[in-house]
Amino acid sequence: MENFVQYTPTRVVFGRGTENKTGELVKMYGGSRVFIVYGGGSAVKSGLIDRIKESLRREGIEFDEQGGTKPNPVLTHAEEGVRRAEDFGADFILGVGGGSAIDTAKAIAHGCANPYSKLWDIWTKKVPLEKSLPVGAVLTIAAAGSEMSDSAVLTNEALGIKAGINTEFNRCKFAVMNPELLFTLPKYQLAAGITDIMMHTMERYFIPDIKCDLTDEIAEGLLRTVIKNGRAVMAQEDNYDAMAEIMWCSSLSHNNLTECGRGKDFSVHKFGHALSAKYDYTHGATLSAVWGSWAEYLYMDALPRFSQFARRVYGVKTPDDRKAAKEGIERTVAFFREIGMPTSIIELGCAPTEKELKELAMAATKQDTLKLTRIRPVGAKEAEEIFRRAVAAAPSV
Ligand code: NZQ
Ligand code: ZN
Repeated sequence: MENFVQYTPTRVVFGRGTENKTGELVKMYGGSRVFIVYGGGSAVKSGLIDRIKESLRREGIEFDEQGGTKPNPVLTHAEEGVRRAEDFGADFILGVGGGSAIDTAKAIAHGCANPYSKLWDIWTKKVPLEKSLPVGAVLTIAAAGSEMSDSAVLTNEALGIKAGINTEFNRCKFAVMNPELLFTLPKYQLAAGITDIMMHTMERYFIPDIKCDLTDEIAEGLLRTVIKNGRAVMAQEDNYDAMAEIMWCSSLSHNNLTECGRGKDFSVHKFGHALSAKYDYTHGATLSAVWGSWAEYLYMDALPRFSQFARRVYGVKTPDDRKAAKEGIERTVAFFREIGMPTSIIELGCAPTEKELKELAMAATKQDTLKLTRIRPVGAKEAEEIFRRAVAAAPSV
């Protein structure tokens, strides 16, 4: 087991009706002027924004708002939020929605606390981030895990780059999680969320040669829970108990619990971010489109991890490690198909040319400066080959 620090300071307030506690929670963390950030309208339509405002009014908290955050949120929208939140004199930023709204809220918090720095300079760590405003979240989709993560992701439209920043200032003070708020999710978003949750766990699992029994058990249990309850919510979206499991898994898969003693990889995310930056696809769908090819390409270099995964997550019985590993990959790809997720780039929606494959690989590897995967170093050339294999079909297993 490697050395690690585990610090998850977010207060989770979970269950039915918890959104009505938002005002109390903001007050608890010293907020008196709240800037609310939300998406394209689902939270308005469901009446959630009104309930949150009512809860803020009850505590005498002033608020202003900015809707219109789009999935794969963009830098310019966050910059506009910074200007508006500054004009309002916000002392607390509240993200209502999923990763896109919450990440934009985090960006606005960083921008407001550092008015003399450009947001992208903060994002790319040209300027060190030493302070921020407090952020809270009311979650409406189980997916990105932003509600408890130390991460936030934005797309710089001008540069065509989608990039994340990891910092303790990204930790939400609180996360309000009412599974009932997820009942209105479109099936595709629900499935993309389930995929992302699995991916956040798997991106910390396929790292060879480090023994971490408890971390393994947590990750494997989390994956079994997501697969079982994922099927249940895909069949019946108002299944409260199953949705509650999925929602809790989303937070635990990305609050670092599943990386204690081993760390993380996140190479599949690099592939996914390259696809989203170029084509604006849904985050979770970019991951399922590539994962099978990524796993097929690399599994022989981490056979004990892949065979353990197959046996413990899917109950694969064969004593042959190679066969077991392949079956684990096959079962995972089949699950993505079952819930309606793409398992190739064509299914995702495009057929990149050879030139575009090169561009995608260069984006994923930061112009070949970054070696991907902790299984073995993968540069731009090999990344291109993984993208190429992912184009047409899921791996033959
Ligand atoms: O915009 P609205 O109208 O709210 O619609 C959203 C959006 O179209 C809809 N939706 C959300 N809750 C709903 C709902 N529709 C009906 N009922 C509800 N209850 O779902 C769509 C997707 O929303 P979004 O916030 O984009 O989803 P998600 O949570 O998957 O976030 C994706 C973003 O988070 C980033 C991704 O890259 C992507 O930009 N990530 C952030 C991470 C983090 N901060 O730790 C880690 C992740 O790996 C990920 O990279
Ligand atoms: Zn993700």
